[in-house]
Amino acid sequence: MQDELRDYLIKDEPYYRPVADEIELYEAAYSVRMPMMLKGPTGCGKTRFVEYMAWKLNKPLITVACNEDMTASDLVGRFLLDANGTRWQDGPLAMAARHGAICYLDEVVEARQDTTVVIHPLTDNRRVLPLERKGELIQAHPDFQVVISYNPGYQSLMKDLKQSTKQRFGALDFNYPAHDLESEIVAHETGVSLDVASKLVSVAERARNLKGHGLDEGISTRMLVYAGSLIHKGVAPLAACRMALVRPITDDPDMRDALDAAVTTFF
Ligand SMILES: Nc1ncnc2c1ncn2[C@@H]1O[C@H](COP(=O)(O)OP(=O)(O)O)[C@@H](O)[C@H]1O
Ligand SMILES: [Mg+2]
Repeated sequence: MQDELRDYLIKDEPYYRPVADEIELYEAAYSVRMPMMLKGPTGCGKTRFVEYMAWKLNKPLITVACNEDMTASDLVGRFLLDANGTRWQDGPLAMAARHGAICYLDEVVEARQDTTVVIHPLTDNRRVLPLERKGELIQAHPDFQVVISYNPGYQSLMKDLKQSTKQRFGALDFNYPAHDLESEIVAHETGVSLDVASKLVSVAERARNLKGHGLDEGISTRMLVYAGSLIHKGVAPLAACRMALVRPITDDPDMRDALDAAVTTFF
């Protein structure tokens, strides 16, 4: 790793509770520099896991939040105008490949497919990145790895990864942790008691059972962390749950009533 990436090293150990053998599997994948895809619903721990792994492997982490307007140049780099003329600036993907970082493309399906294909030559045995405008071919640094996150729930025909992209990656499935583990995580992240955290998880479990029956997505661990933080600050549990858990995920009055009722059952 080179000096350019010092700022991208994670200094303090991120709090991450393993759910199964994902840490060992990821380490094995990294050891052969296999590109990795983390699949699962939003707010279930994918980003936290990558941060933890980057810390554990002592590698810099460059994260890109993908969106529809993103172009290949946003990833690869571009010429900038300055007082002395033009100067090339590496984009995040080029910087990671050149100097040896883990490059995390968060919510990769948000990017257009013609943008996503720029990772292809980096994610097979070539491990190169052509900078066409600059006329340079970057040979990826030995430490470089690509990681993408992907929410299969959002998948539609228009918005999905091409098979030719998918088949370059190993994949790990993520989901909301089991009840006791998720309670522990919520208690640790917010400072509420294990008992309160467990009630929050129970509310979320009710909502998760309604996924596909009026709800597009269940209540995530991230939302429980928000609710717990509010309760820890002294907000009444009912108000905290309404604001952090129920109102954000549905506009439907009947669904809101059903979820509010679940909250009052547990609190
Ligand atoms: N296994 C876990 N260990 C520790 N924290 C977790 C875990 N799973 C979820 N979390 C908590 O949930 C929050 C949301 O997770 P995040 O990684 O941001 O989700 P996403 O899957 O959308 O990337 C984290 O900030 C963290 O507080
Ligand atoms: Mg994330």
